[in-house]
Amino acid sequence: MKKIVISTGGGDAPGLNAVIYAVVHACHRRGWEVYGSRSGYKGLLDMDELVRLGLEDVEDIYSTGGTIIGSTNKGNPFEMPFENLAGEVKIVDISDKIFRNFNRMGFDCHIAIGGDGSLEIARRFAEKGMPVVGVPKTIDNDLDATDRTFGFDTAVSTATEALDKLHSTAKSHDRIMVVEVMGRESGWIALYSGISGGADAILLPEIPFDIQKVCEKIMDNELHEKDYAIIVVAEGATVRGGEVITKEQTEIGRSEVLLGGIGEWVATELRECTGKDTRSLVLGHLQRGGSPTTFDRLLAMRFGTAAVRLVEEGTFGHMVALASPGMTSVSLADAVKSRKKVDLTSDKVLTARDIGICLGD
Ligand code: F6P
Repeated sequence: MKKIVISTGGGDAPGLNAVIYAVVHACHRRGWEVYGSRSGYKGLLDMDELVRLGLEDVEDIYSTGGTIIGSTNKGNPFEMPFENLAGEVKIVDISDKIFRNFNRMGFDCHIAIGGDGSLEIARRFAEKGMPVVGVPKTIDNDLDATDRTFGFDTAVSTATEALDKLHSTAKSHDRIMVVEVMGRESGWIALYSGISGGADAILLPEIPFDIQKVCEKIMDNELHEKDYAIIVVAEGATVRGGEVITKEQTEIGRSEVLLGGIGEWVATELRECTGKDTRSLVLGHLQRGGSPTTFDRLLAMRFGTAAVRLVEEGTFGHMVALASPGMTSVSLADAVKSRKKVDLTSDKVLTARDIGICLGD
């Protein structure tokens, strides 16, 4: 009999509930108990935020977006902001308290589902001696240690569908539509959706772009009697020699800066250099919502059950990973070491170039 606690951390991604479903079922078969810690580590600070998860609680959640136990990207227990009565914000380390509560509650393992930030926190807890197993999540697909993260496939489908819809309005008005998609340091969503959604240009964080090249592509389109264009830009893309565009940081305790604005910047520049009507839109959190695709559900369930098998064999301090066609595991230290960038020599990039998509270089 084991007692497991699960948490979901960072930005939500379609498939989180499918992981929870799979963990609860796999634990139930083994006669183990599962608890969910609400909003990251809150359940390990306050018993009211800890929920017992039985089969009845997860009955059909595998097809739903979001996470039934909530998530946060502001709750790093090693660097928790604390506002005193005078309104001063101090950074405190509450990890010892969380570890003490974990032991007091008699947990045998913590299954931490998250992206690079949450997995780094999990790694630090593992270093302290907590038995932890990680599960890789992020729509950005930027974890190098796994072939894929769940959530990415759904986000790409959402972005592709949006591009399909934008074609008709762009064409009707002879406009340039600039679509900003998520992707902080890696342009996976931009590349996959841009190719599949018929973009004229795709701007990735991996290739600092020359706006003149994009203008040339649009003018070249006109020579072929195509008077509209669809431009996909990842939020982390930069103009050559420029910086990532960020929004004002207003959230206390948020570890990452908020990106956003490059789409509008590109639209303004293109309006000036082409003289054409230009509109920009930010797909934003639409990409994180909705029901997971079949691929993401299956991957999430495979990750969830693989995590339970790691607990069973006592392999802690590891993250489950996809090494197609099967599952593997890597140490949490290796899992957070590097980001997966778009390989500029890959056949996907070659495909984009061969079908005439401008990559801004
Ligand atoms: O890491 C996933 C991600 O979706 C990024 O692409 C994006 O920059 C960030 O989360 C946005 O997070 P928030 O939920 O704080 O707006």
